[in-house]
Amino acid sequence: MTAKERGADAAVMQELRPGQSIELLQELHILTREGKLNQDSRRKLKQVYHLFNFIEPLLQDFSAEGRSPTLADHGAGKSYLGFILYDLYFKALGRGHIYGIETRAELVERSRLLAARLGFGRMSFLNLSVAESMDAAELPAQIDVITALHACDTATDDAIAFGLQKQARAMVLVPCCQAEMAACLRRDKALQLGRTPLAELWRHPLHTRELGSQVTNVLRCLYLEAKGYQVTVTELVGWEHSMKNELIIARYTGQKKRSAAERLVALLREFGLEQSMGPRFGLGTAQPEK
Ligand SMILES: C[S@@+](CC[C@H](N)C(=O)[O-])C[C@H]1O[C@@H](n2cnc3c(N)ncnc32)[C@H](O)[C@@H]1O
Repeated sequence: MTAKERGADAAVMQELRPGQSIELLQELHILTREGKLNQDSRRKLKQVYHLFNFIEPLLQDFSAEGRSPTLADHGAGKSYLGFILYDLYFKALGRGHIYGIETRAELVERSRLLAARLGFGRMSFLNLSVAESMDAAELPAQIDVITALHACDTATDDAIAFGLQKQARAMVLVPCCQAEMAACLRRDKALQLGRTPLAELWRHPLHTRELGSQVTNVLRCLYLEAKGYQVTVTELVGWEHSMKNELIIARYTGQKKRSAAERLVALLREFGLEQSMGPRFGLGTAQPEK
């Protein structure tokens, strides 16, 4: 069957992965009915394929010896990532399960309908926040891979907490905007400016926001290392495509890095964040700085 008959432009076919369902891409509005890619959907597809390159080898490892891999995608949105992972990997594997977790009910309903229409029977969509999904009876006690692609603000932190609770073997995170840390930095700015020259790093509002994101991601990585994950930080796609393109990949090794735990506390202290942000990173009983 030619590309045209399958509903995709021949040039566009070059950009798709072998075995990719054209129908799925059209249903997701990544491909137009004429089989074309517009600028936005090309960017989305490029992002998802790039992530697929990282996630596929993890799934292959976890599928070895007949195991059925499980994956939970947090802040799933329209579930581009989940659907494409299912189409390119889970469908042929014939086992395993993908769970999409999303707060917007209409997106969850749409994904349920689409999965049913395509016969993607091992996909479930839960209309829950990431935090609520921790206790969801529909989810198994252990989940192999956690993904969170541009899940808003603290949803990435909730996804990490979820991953720890579910003893995830890998977490693939692309953090989004981050407001919580910036708010904490802003609140104590005057105090910190008097205490440390470091506070110059967040004196100006634009710097407060950017530094807040940067420090949050650094602390997330240290936290994961302290919990026994090996962490890699790389780019999702080129800067021309997205301002939020930091990709954090964490693989469980069981080796809890004590130095990472110590650095995490030291950094929180250095930034005057021990009390406000400590609980996020497992420091429930943080003492105020002397
Ligand atoms: C920027 S979109 C990204 C969607 C998708 N991951 C993607 O990359 O195409 C963020 C999504 O996360 C959802 N979301 C935000 N906070 C959430 C939370 N705490 N729990 C679950 N979903 C959340 C939003 O409703 C939205 O659909």
